[in-house]
Amino acid sequence: MKEMIALNQELAEKTGELEITVLNQWIREHHREKPLTYIIKTWGCQMNERDSEIMAGVVEECGYTRVDREEEADLIIYNTCLIRENAEMKVFGNLGQLKVLKRKNPKMRIALCGCMAQKEHIVAKLKKSYPHVDLVFGTHNIHELPALLLESYRDNRRQIHVLEDGVKTYQNLPSKRLYNFKGFVNIMFGCNNFCSYCVVPYTRGREQSRSKDEILAEVRGLAESGYQEITLLGQNVNSYGNDLESSVDFADLLEAIAVIEGIKRIRFMTSHPKDISRRLIDTMAKYPTICNQLHLPVQAGSNAILKKMNRKYTKESYIEMLNYAKASIPELTISTDLIVGFPGETEADFQETLAMVREAEYDFAFSYLYSPRAGTPAAIDPDQVPDDIKHHRFDRLMDTVNPIFLKKNQALIGRSQKVLVESVSKNDASILNGRTEGSKLIHFPGDSNLIGKIITVKVTKAQTFILFGEVE
Ligand code: SAH
Ligand code: SF4
Ligand code: F3S
Repeated sequence: MKEMIALNQELAEKTGELEITVLNQWIREHHREKPLTYIIKTWGCQMNERDSEIMAGVVEECGYTRVDREEEADLIIYNTCLIRENAEMKVFGNLGQLKVLKRKNPKMRIALCGCMAQKEHIVAKLKKSYPHVDLVFGTHNIHELPALLLESYRDNRRQIHVLEDGVKTYQNLPSKRLYNFKGFVNIMFGCNNFCSYCVVPYTRGREQSRSKDEILAEVRGLAESGYQEITLLGQNVNSYGNDLESSVDFADLLEAIAVIEGIKRIRFMTSHPKDISRRLIDTMAKYPTICNQLHLPVQAGSNAILKKMNRKYTKESYIEMLNYAKASIPELTISTDLIVGFPGETEADFQETLAMVREAEYDFAFSYLYSPRAGTPAAIDPDQVPDDIKHHRFDRLMDTVNPIFLKKNQALIGRSQKVLVESVSKNDASILNGRTEGSKLIHFPGDSNLIGKIITVKVTKAQTFILFGEVE
């Protein structure tokens, strides 16, 4: 089934760029007095954030102006996530509240896109119970946003168009980046791994690498615009290039990016432990522009659970690679993702996760309660772990990891760190927020004109999740 729902087949064939011009003209003709406004709300991962930047660029080009409050918007776009149940609940909760706004401004258009749109049962629910949602499109056709909007204005009917897979041509559309000093660059889309708990392969399609030339051109463009830091994005960056005709792999790509003049910091995520190579670690060690930071999601410490998760590595192979990375890259910051309460997880399995985090000595970890996701094999596993046990294990995991994070942060007290200054603190205008090369958040007094610069900050105090310091 190539196409799930297509109200207008023609729309699929139109390119975003052409439609931008047409919609722009239409808006100028129909909304002479007051420019139309938009807001985009984004849930989920950096992929979604990047897609939102592109949609922002596209709608601005069409003639919309950004506003900060939904009440003031003529177009509301929800770019959604359903990685865990609470992500999905949040979107439905917010969506319900939009009913009132739409009543006040009937010309308002409400669009839902992103990963939730890729699931048929969710589209069915939207059709049935959320009549105020005007547009639904998926992760493979965000370039059709202008065409769908135009159609929705012209015939005033709801537009639902979701593709099961597609070529990501929209990467070259205009984009409005959130920052002018650090940016995301997609290097590949989709995922082929089918970890048994995860919806991503069903919402993002199969792996599709962008060509090296296209990526390098985007990074060069960012460097020319003064960007200091870039983060290369992919669900499993280590399999970059497997689907390309040329024999380029992620280490080659990283090497080519590392020597681009102007870019001072390169990060990447996510690195799948089953595919990480020593060559990649050697490349990280070789180039000072590649940050000494590795996010290597382990998920669990028991081989039995890793097998059931379909992760395709063992705790031994994981630790071996981690130790190689630690030995090769000085001052390496390591982080991970952990899932607690996966179906069939026994107390003994959980103890192995605790042993793993103690051995790995992570600087930071994203820890999640296992959340059954419709359509994934783990969701129908009869061996689900009861909620109270999941929560109890989660609390014990926190009690184990938090002191490790604190210890690692405290080890930095008195040390100088290169910090990219990112923003002014929301609570205190005299305090700046920045990130160390290891991606640790640091607060320090300073002037807002330092934003976007890399400076040296001496760490003076450490908490579990934050460092404090002084500009040197
Ligand atoms: N591609 C990345 C992960 C993307 S999803 C990788 O393989 O590392 C981000 C994280 O969400 C995962 O690493 C996992 O820890 C978590 N996650 C995914 N599905 C989940 C589920 N059903 N329940 C709980 N956590 C989940
Ligand atoms: Fe999900 Fe696994 Fe793919 Fe990561 S590698 S996106 S966890 S299926
Ligand atoms: Fe969520 Fe989709 Fe990303 S499910 S985590 S937004 S790939």
